[in-house]
Amino acid sequence: PHVVRKAVFPAAGLGTRILPATVVVPKELLPIVDKPIIQFGVEEAAASGLTQVILVNSPDKTMLEKHFDRHSLLEDVLERRGKAALLDGWRELVESIELSTVYQADPLGLGHAVLVSRELVDDEPFAVVLSDDIIDADPPALRKMLDLYKEVDGPVLLVERVPPDAVSRYGIIAADAIGDGVHRVTDLVEKPPRDEAPSDLAIIGRYVLTPDVFPILAATGQGSGGEIQLTDGLRRLLEQRPIHAVELNGTRQDAGNKLGYLKAILYFAMKHPELAEAMPQLLAGGGTPR
Ligand code: UTP
Repeated sequence: PHVVRKAVFPAAGLGTRILPATVVVPKELLPIVDKPIIQFGVEEAAASGLTQVILVNSPDKTMLEKHFDRHSLLEDVLERRGKAALLDGWRELVESIELSTVYQADPLGLGHAVLVSRELVDDEPFAVVLSDDIIDADPPALRKMLDLYKEVDGPVLLVERVPPDAVSRYGIIAADAIGDGVHRVTDLVEKPPRDEAPSDLAIIGRYVLTPDVFPILAATGQGSGGEIQLTDGLRRLLEQRPIHAVELNGTRQDAGNKLGYLKAILYFAMKHPELAEAMPQLLAGGGTPR
């Protein structure tokens, strides 16, 4: 199998579930305590050995890619004030990746967003990261997926067991367990009604894909909601080659909706060196700590 170097970050959606916060500020730049949503995903990609980040952005949201530029004015001032450490982590991350951007003018669906990255991905296997699924796992979920990719030399999905009333919000797989949280996918269905779901294994925001998915996406018509669905494309890909799935061993926060966004902030506040101590009292009191 080829070495995977590239990670596609679809980020051209409208973020309607958090309007009006996302009128001007891209959803991916909303802060989880002191770090924007997208930085978690880019950190995971970098920690998993990926070096090329391909952002699929909307031409309306160019603030997003600027987060990964160097900012000499800010950096010089912090340096002079002896506060350069405030950018620790960010600086190393920005230096360790190469970012390129391609624009999806019309948000025609996740499958279409992936298709838009075709020229930049070229003829290589690649990862797809939906950054509003913030994953905390050790080892990183993407790294486990890339390890499995090396073994099976084919597409790998990340799945998580979800409660019955949640299956209709996800792509769901039918699969044969082949051991240790690894499954061989036998079918995929996008947002099935509760009583038609083939399992409780929901596809979540990480994929390792092979370039043979591009011609399929190009030929895939608009599915549910008038969008080109990635799940529909993967279903056709499954007719051509085996697809595997790994179960998430860690936590996932869906920061793309109001409640999930709030939970993500609380989760990472509880792990934050400056806030961890204050959090139990804040939560127990149901209000502001004294
Ligand atoms: P979401 O379903 O979260 O959609 O897309 P959204 O537009 O971001 O948010 P809502 O539903 O309006 O609140 C999943 C991921 O796919 C990207 C989104 O940016 C998000 O990261 N996406 C979706 C695209 O890049 N292009 C699309 O056409 C659709």
